[in-house]
Amino acid sequence: MQWTNQLAGQLNWSRDISNREEKQRVADQVAGKVKDKDVIGIGSGSTAFLALQAIAERVNEEGLDVKGIPTSKEAEINCAVLGLATTTLIDSRPDWGFDGADEVDGDRRLIKGRGGAMLREKLVMASAEKTYILADKSKMVERLGEKFAVPIEVDARAIHLVETGLGNLSSVKRVEMRMAEKKDGPVITEGGNIILDVTFEDIPADAESTLKAMPGVVETGLFIGYPVEILTV
Ligand code: 5RP
Repeated sequence: MQWTNQLAGQLNWSRDISNREEKQRVADQVAGKVKDKDVIGIGSGSTAFLALQAIAERVNEEGLDVKGIPTSKEAEINCAVLGLATTTLIDSRPDWGFDGADEVDGDRRLIKGRGGAMLREKLVMASAEKTYILADKSKMVERLGEKFAVPIEVDARAIHLVETGLGNLSSVKRVEMRMAEKKDGPVITEGGNIILDVTFEDIPADAESTLKAMPGVVETGLFIGYPVEILTV
């Protein structure tokens, strides 16, 4: 018990959160949607954390029977620290979910994955009838790819295959391997894979299927065509 607070401090985004006030206002909107018996997909990242905090507060205060399906280890631990019961996609389906995004365009197309959790995030989003995307103003873009590269999660053994595949796409401008903060090695995802951040000249309409067709590409951070509702301030 003595380390619970430190655990929360380390993993719960108690550290600085950019645009915190706006993110909090968006997060508070989603907490109002929780009903007794809901199974909720729990997103990853700082905005999703603020929403989880607000939801856990309501659930605990009102004694609601609610379960979360976390999209990352971090979200799993946050649920445990905040006292929200969890289940898995194997046992349940989410009634609805919430998550953050790095970019959102006018057609509700998203780039996600700055936290590297896009594999589980996409599984949970694809399983839910609706996902609320919590997007402060800084996330809204005219053109997808305007600010962020598209992250792709790749089995490290496929690095040369994928490098060649990406090299053959005329729309790809730059590819960078995501490195750990200390730059002493690549970021390794929860699935044991690496991340390549792919900058496009213009993201082609078929980018997702083209990338997914490359052997070794496990998932991409393009979230297109899912039933999402954007909550913003
Ligand atoms: C993690 C994500 C996050 O939802 C996205 O990066 C937004 O994060 P934040 O709310 O901290 O700005 O996709 O994989």
